[in-house]
Amino acid sequence: MPLCKMMQPFPLPHAWVLLVIGLAWYIYKRASQPKSMLISQPSVTNVKTPEYTEESYYQIEPLVGFDLEATEPIKIRPFKPKYHLTMALENITISDLVAMDNTYTARISLRRSLISSRPHDVLAVTPVIEPSVLEFYSWLMLTYLPLRFPTVFTLLGEKRGLQNVVTREILPLVPSSALQALETIGGNIDDDFLFLLPTAEEGKYRLEGFVTCFPSGFNTRGKLGLKLADIHIPVPGYSAKLEKSMDRFFASLPVGKIVRRVNWSITTHGELFCLAGNHLSEEEAKTLAEEVVAKEWDINKAVLRCERQTLHRLPGTKALVFAFKTYQYGMQELRDEGSGEELATAIDGLGEGSVPGMRVYKSAVLWGEKVKRFLRGRDEGDA
Ligand code: HEM
Ligand SMILES: *[C@@H]1O[C@H](CO)[C@@H](O)[C@H](O)[C@H]1NC(C)=O
Ligand SMILES: *[C@@H]1O[C@H](CO)[C@@H](O)[C@H](O)[C@H]1NC(C)=O
Repeated sequence: MPLCKMMQPFPLPHAWVLLVIGLAWYIYKRASQPKSMLISQPSVTNVKTPEYTEESYYQIEPLVGFDLEATEPIKIRPFKPKYHLTMALENITISDLVAMDNTYTARISLRRSLISSRPHDVLAVTPVIEPSVLEFYSWLMLTYLPLRFPTVFTLLGEKRGLQNVVTREILPLVPSSALQALETIGGNIDDDFLFLLPTAEEGKYRLEGFVTCFPSGFNTRGKLGLKLADIHIPVPGYSAKLEKSMDRFFASLPVGKIVRRVNWSITTHGELFCLAGNHLSEEEAKTLAEEVVAKEWDINKAVLRCERQTLHRLPGTKALVFAFKTYQYGMQELRDEGSGEELATAIDGLGEGSVPGMRVYKSAVLWGEKVKRFLRGRDEGDA
């Protein structure tokens, strides 16, 4: 009995031709692969290169039963014996984009008052970034916030919006404008967000929008429209030590990958909203009047100011989102927990690493000696 036509193996001559071509191609590809991929090496074959995909934006790990009031702010202690200027990035997951804690209520009330009293300083969008801001907003409201923090943000339905359980407000799922979107983000999340887009020049990114209530000594408005390198002009060593690797990193960051870094400085005032003054240039340092250096200030007001920063790319519009949450720790707390000596060493180390100018930039000339004396326990705080 003849075989059914359908079951005849390769009834058509061109199927054989295709098979032969396919096999030849397979053999060629295997032979042209680098040796290390052919020879089984546990260290190579076991460590999978993570695959970054758009799906990760929707695979948010919920913090079930998250208790805002019981959650203390994380303690970041990023100081090292010597300050080396590097990107120092860590890989995290999209779920970790926002950190929340029991400072939330006080923080967002300060943020809201800044947004209403100083809108020009804390918020801006250029027309090209509006679609990205809207993309980010809708992902936050519909996906990220309700999935990650179900005890703080509750989705009431497509028509009704997202409820902020703490303030009892209902946030719209569709904002009336990109600026409105930033206002809502800035007033409900204790993080500052900056949006960047590539310029025509290969690999260079430009700041196109922001909500930054807690800038540490710079005016974000003045950086709007600037490229990363120009934003960082006041930072000593940036062009020599960071610019190339940062540009490369920003240009090649894939959708689905998110990184984190932390930084630190000390301020003598503890003001979260600070448009100027935490930094010094070499020029300013040279001409500092003696009375400025000698000016009395209260060690109980000084804080270690740290930022937890993240960077990721939006899957739709491909803009980069740089976010940071600011933490402040009093000198007494650091001394009490036993970090005093370590921080005092790091203060000296600002001038001993890859960019000695950091000591001046972070204005350690103004606070270094007094802070070190206190941290080493030779000064009383409540004098
Ligand atoms: C991986 C990304 C980044 C790295 C490694 C980086 C690095 C730095 C460093 C080392 C400083 C000096 C203060 C310190 O952290 O010790 C600095 C300051 C600053 N950075 Fe970045 N930065 C990054 C991304 C960004 C982005 C995306 C923006 C804004 C869109 C930005 C805006 C600023 C501003 C405004 C300052 C203060 C400059 C001033 O004193 O006027 N940074 N950055
Ligand atoms: C982060 O992930 C990249 C792959 O995207 C990897 O090459 C790199 O080593 C990782 N970095 C750290 C600090 O683990
Ligand atoms: C930390 O880095 C950010 C952005 O790179 C910068 O704006 C900020 O001034 C730095 N903060 C401190 C406390 O040095």
